[in-house]
Amino acid sequence: MPRKYQIAVIVGSLRAGSLNRKLAKAMAALAPDTLAFDFVEIGDLALYNPDLDTETPPAPWTRFRAEIAKADGVMFVTPEYNRAVPAAMKNALDVGSRPYGENVWAGKPGLVVSGSAGALAGFGAHHHLRQSLVVLDVPTMAQPEAYIGNLGSLFDDTGALASDDSAAFLGKIMQAYAAWVARHVD
Ligand SMILES: Cc1cc2nc3c(=O)[nH]c(=O)nc-3n(C[C@H](O)[C@H](O)[C@H](O)COP(=O)(O)O)c2cc1C
Repeated sequence: MPRKYQIAVIVGSLRAGSLNRKLAKAMAALAPDTLAFDFVEIGDLALYNPDLDTETPPAPWTRFRAEIAKADGVMFVTPEYNRAVPAAMKNALDVGSRPYGENVWAGKPGLVVSGSAGALAGFGAHHHLRQSLVVLDVPTMAQPEAYIGNLGSLFDDTGALASDDSAAFLGKIMQAYAAWVARHVD
């Protein structure tokens, strides 16, 4: 039996009706069963301030760092805000990167997915995020790239993926990511 890998999922949108969260759930459901997913929440993380990073940091920072530390890999699913990652996502990256020398992201195989209601599919946010993942030492899967546009028509009224083609495309990404994780962990 191949080992099961625990993947932390971070969604860059905080809103209840987030299409990116729906997308993340759909992708998790399409993944090979060598992967198990935990959605790690970022909405309660105070803005990163080194002055607060004492021996008793804010409790949500401690909770968040522990959840990332125990994961084997991290899947980022994010909208684009003004051609960059939403502040909540960037803040989560910063919180996980400190205190200096205790970067919880290091070495965790990463998947970047950008989703947008528009046609540009969050290209700017996607690469903005990849830029930070380099210094955070996250080996991020290069191919296939996951730019998911027109999110509004990806799901039907029941919340399921509206087309078999979309399911096949997203499933292929998850298969590649499962192989990427297996290659980097252990
Ligand atoms: C502050 C803000 C800035 C935005 N900027 C962009 C943008 O630069 N590019 C884009 O494709 N969509 C942009 N959008 C639209 C979002 O992509 C769209 O609302 C998307 O559905 C948000 O993801 P969610 O459904 O997961 O919340 C922006 C939305 C907000 C709230």
